[in-house]
Amino acid sequence: MRVAIASDHAGFEQKQQLVDFLASELKVDTVDCGPDTDGRVDYPDYAVKVANMVATGAADRGVLVCGTGIGMALAADKVAGVRAASITTPEFADLFRRHNDGNVVCLSGRFVDLDVNKDIIKVFLTSEFEGGRHAERVVKIMKLD
Ligand code: RB5
Repeated sequence: MRVAIASDHAGFEQKQQLVDFLASELKVDTVDCGPDTDGRVDYPDYAVKVANMVATGAADRGVLVCGTGIGMALAADKVAGVRAASITTPEFADLFRRHNDGNVVCLSGRFVDLDVNKDIIKVFLTSEFEGGRHAERVVKIMKLD
């Protein structure tokens, strides 16, 4: 599995640690879409990098980190084919996969501990979409693209 990850300045510190976690501990092919420093940047510029990779199939899943996770989700969801949401618990990560077939998880670097975000990512990468009645609903969402 290939995972694209990016942040803004508010999520930078956690993003650096999560790149390491993905590559070294989870051993997934990890593409760091930046930024490379903690200087101030605009989160939509980084959300779109990851969203485009997922939408085109260049990555299977995406991870975005900003202060709350909310701005990243708003921006990433504008890209056709992306289903992004701000996720703050492993339980929601599980439902996001099982019911919504989420493909981009957006994390809070300011309000959620690194260990919780690691658990969220682990669940996000392992929980499977249930299909069935949920698939019909996801198709309705994707028709709105
Ligand atoms: C940056 O200050 C902050 O607005 C951003 O990281 C994010 O939380 C937006 O949703």
